[in-house]
Amino acid sequence: MSEKTSFTLTQNDIPTHWYNILADFPEPMAPPLHPGTKQPVSLQDMTAIFPENIVMQEMSPDRHIEIPAPVRDIYALWRPTPLLRAVRLEKALQTPAHIYYKYEGVSPAGSHKPNTAVPQAYYNQLAGTKRLATETGAGQWGSSLALACKLFGLECVVYMVKVSYHQKPYRKMLMHTWGATVHSSPTKHTHVGRAILEKDPECPGSLGIAISEAIEDTAHHKDTKYSLGSVLNHVCLHQTVVGQECMKQMAQAGEKPDVVIGCVGGGSNFAGISFPYVREKIVNKDPVRIVAVEPTVCASLTKGELRYDFGDQAQMTPLMMMYTLGHDFMPPSIHAGGLRYHGMAPTVSHAYKLGLIEATAYEQTKVFENGVLFAQTEGIVPAPESAHAICAAIDEAIQAREEGQKRVILFNLSGHGLLDLASYDSFIAGHLSNG
Ligand SMILES: Cc1ncc(COP(=O)(O)O)c(C=O)c1O
Repeated sequence: MSEKTSFTLTQNDIPTHWYNILADFPEPMAPPLHPGTKQPVSLQDMTAIFPENIVMQEMSPDRHIEIPAPVRDIYALWRPTPLLRAVRLEKALQTPAHIYYKYEGVSPAGSHKPNTAVPQAYYNQLAGTKRLATETGAGQWGSSLALACKLFGLECVVYMVKVSYHQKPYRKMLMHTWGATVHSSPTKHTHVGRAILEKDPECPGSLGIAISEAIEDTAHHKDTKYSLGSVLNHVCLHQTVVGQECMKQMAQAGEKPDVVIGCVGGGSNFAGISFPYVREKIVNKDPVRIVAVEPTVCASLTKGELRYDFGDQAQMTPLMMMYTLGHDFMPPSIHAGGLRYHGMAPTVSHAYKLGLIEATAYEQTKVFENGVLFAQTEGIVPAPESAHAICAAIDEAIQAREEGQKRVILFNLSGHGLLDLASYDSFIAGHLSNG
C-alpha cells in the first residue's frame, strides 16, 4: 500500500450533537416575517405546517443540539461516511494540491439528504404526525424522506418537479419502493398547480411550485405536516454531522483544508460540510476559504439580490432574508435538478453577506465534463449537483499547479449519479447545452 487515501471512522465517532451556527454569527440574522403582518413569525404561525419540536429547533439559539438516540441508530446504517483523497485526480491534473472528498453517496438514498430526513421523520412521529407532504427536485430529497417515513411508520406524499419526474424515472421508482405516493408537479390536485397548468400546460415545474403544492396539501389534510429538504435552519443544522466528521478525518490525514467546497441548491449540503469550518473562521480566525458552487443558470448567490422573499412560487411561506432570483423565477431544465432553486438558505445567505464564504458558478457542459473526469479517475459517478463542487475543486487544484504551491482542498461529494446516467448519456452523445 503506497499512500493512505481512505480515512474512516467507527460507529462511536458518529457525532452526538448537531452544530448550530446561529450561536456564533457575529451579527444576528434578520428574522423570517409573516407574509401578511410583516412581523417576525411566531411559534404558532410555524406550527400550522411543522410540529412544535421542529419549530423549536428552527428557532433555537443553542450552539449544540443533542442528536436523539433513535436518529443516531439509523445514522449508523451509513455513517460515519468515508473521507477519501483523490490521488488519481490529482495525478491527472498534475497538481501539487491534495484533494479530499467527503462521500455522502453511501447513504441508502445515495446522497446527504437522509441526514435530515431521518430526524424530521423522527420528530414528526414523536409529535403524532401521521403523514408528511414534501416537494422534490431531482428526487434525492423525496426518496430520502420516503425511506425515513417508512422507518418511522409515517405516510409520505411527494410533489416531484415535472422535468425531473420524466428525466429521472428511477428516483420515482425508489420512492415507490419505499412506499411513498409521488405526483408530477404542477399537478391538478392543488389550486396552485391547476392555476399554473391553465396558464402553461407545458410548464416544466420548479422547486418553488412543488413547495407551494406540498404546503397546500398539508393545509388540506388532517394529521399531515410539511417537510422541507433544504433552506431552513433546522435542515442545515442536521447536515452538520458531515463537517464534524470531516474535521476528525482530516486530523487523521494529518492535514487542514485551505479551502472547503460544496455545491448549493437550497444550501444544506454546503452548510453541512462548511458550518463547522465557518465557526473556526469566526471563533479562531482560521484563514480557511469556503466556497459555494451554483449553476450559472440558477445563480442566487452570484447573480441574485439579498432581500426578503418567499420560499415558494405561490407566496405561502414566511418571507425570508436571502439571496434570491425572485420566487417566480423559472430555472431552465438543467440536469442538476436539485440546484434549480430560486433562493438560498438564510444562514448561507447571512454567511455570504458577512464575507465568511465565497461563491462561484459553472455551466452545465463544464459540470458534466468534470463529472466524467472524476468518474474516470476516482471511479465514482457523481450526482450532477455534486459535480459542481468537483468543478471548483479542480479549478483550485489547477490554480495551485499554476502557482506551484501545495493547497489542501476539501469538497463534499454530496451524492452519486447512478440514477442520473441518462443525463451522462445525453452529455456523452453531445446533446447537452448550457440551458
Ligand atoms: C446530490 C445533491 N447534492 C446537492 C443538492 C442540493 O441541495 P442542497 O443545497 O440542499 O444540498 C441536491 C438536491 O437535491 C442533491 O440531490
